[in-house]
Amino acid sequence: MNNRVLVTGGAGYIGSHTTVELINAGYEVIVVDNLSNSDRSSLEGIRKITGVEPKFIEADCCDKEAMRKVFQEHEFNSVIHFAAYKAVGESVAEPAKYYRNNILSFVTILELMTEFGRKNVLFSSSATVYGDADVLPVTEHTPRKPATSPYGNTKQMAEDILRDMVAANQNLAGIALRYFNPIGAHPSALIGELPRGVPNNLVPYITQTAAGIRECLSIFGDDYDTPDGSCLRDYIDVVDLARAHVVAVERMVSGGSKQRYEIFNIGTGRPVSVFELVRGFEQANDLKLNYKVAPRRAGDVTAVWADTTLANQELGWRAERELLDTLRAAWEWEKHVRQ
Ligand code: NAD
Ligand code: UD1
Repeated sequence: MNNRVLVTGGAGYIGSHTTVELINAGYEVIVVDNLSNSDRSSLEGIRKITGVEPKFIEADCCDKEAMRKVFQEHEFNSVIHFAAYKAVGESVAEPAKYYRNNILSFVTILELMTEFGRKNVLFSSSATVYGDADVLPVTEHTPRKPATSPYGNTKQMAEDILRDMVAANQNLAGIALRYFNPIGAHPSALIGELPRGVPNNLVPYITQTAAGIRECLSIFGDDYDTPDGSCLRDYIDVVDLARAHVVAVERMVSGGSKQRYEIFNIGTGRPVSVFELVRGFEQANDLKLNYKVAPRRAGDVTAVWADTTLANQELGWRAERELLDTLRAAWEWEKHVRQ
C-alpha cells in the first residue's frame, strides 16, 4: 500500500513527468484524469519511457461517487493532487469555474482520504502565492500577499484547507510544494507541455515562435528595475520538479516529516531574466528567435525567485538540470509535437 500512489491530473504536464519518476523509483501509480487539459498520448509516452503502463481511470475529481469508487477499488496510502485548471487570465474572466474545479476537487479528495483512512497528500501549490514579495529570494516564511487572480486565490485557499484538514485529522499528513516556473520536457521528447490555443507562458511561446506557429515573441517590458530591464523568474526543469515529488512522497511514507503539514519551495534559487532565457534558447538550439520588446503585461511582478534551503536540507533535493539542457529539451519536445 505504501508503494502505491494515486496521481490526480497525472495525464497533464507535471503529472506525467512525476508519474515517470515515481515508476522509475519503484512506485505503482494510479492516474485519475478527466482529460480536460490533456490527452491519452501522455500515457502512451509514460509507457514508452518506463516500459510500464500506469493504471488509468478517466474521472473527474469533483465527482465524489466516481472518486469513492477509485478509493474503494484501490489501496494506496499517498495521493499527489495535480488536478486543477491553471490559466491565470481565464480565471479572471471565469472565476466560478476555477473555484469549483480547483477547490471542490481538492476537498473531495481530502474528504475521501479521511473517510478511507488514507495518510499522505501532496498538493501542487505555486510561487504565485507570494505575489510581489518585498524581500527576495522568498522563503517559505515570506508572508503571502493577497492573490492577484482567482487562480492564485485557489492556491492560497487550498493550502489553508490542507493545513486545516491535517490539523483536524491525526491520521493525515500533507505537503504543499510551491513550484516556481516549470519549463522543459522529458529528455526523451515523449512527454511535455501541450498548451491549448495561444500560450500565455514564456517557454511555450518561444518554442512555438521558433517553430513558425507564432510570428514573433513579445518581451513584456524592458523597463523594470532589474539588471537588463526585463522580469526575473526562477525557471525549474520539469524533471527536477518531478523528482521533488518523489522525495516528498518518500518523506511522508517513511514518517520523516517534522510536522504533519509542511511547505517547500521548489525552484533553482537562481533568477533568470526574459532576455537571458531568450538568448539561452538561441544558444542551446543554435537558432535565431524573432522577438520584439512590448509593453509590460498587466499583473506581472518584477521579480520572484526561491530560497530553496529548506528543500535542500529537509528533502535532500536540489535542482540539477542546466538551463541550456532544459531549453534544448523544450525545443526537442516542440519538434516532436509538430511531427
Ligand atoms: P496541466 O493542465 O497540464 O495538468 C492538470 C491535469 O489535471 C490535466 O491533465 C487535466 O486534464 C486534469 N484535470 C483538471 N481538472 C480535473 C478534474 N476536476 N478531475 C480530473 N482531472 C482534472 O497542468 P500542469 O502544468 O501539469 O499543472 C499541474 C498542477 O500544478 C496544477 O495544480 C497547477 O495549478 C500547478 N502548477 C502549475 C504550474 C505551471 O506552470 N505549470 C505552476 C505552479 C503550479
Ligand atoms: C504565470 C502566472 C503564475 C503561474 C505561472 C505558471 C501570471 C501573472 N502568473 O507566471 O500564476 O503559476 O504562470 O507557470 O500570469 N513573458 C514575455 N512574453 C511572453 C510570455 C511571458 O515576456 O509571451 C514574460 C513575462 O512577462 C514574465 C516571464 O516571461 O516575466 C514569465 O512569464 P510566464 O511564463 O507567463 O510565467 P509567470 O508570469 O511568471
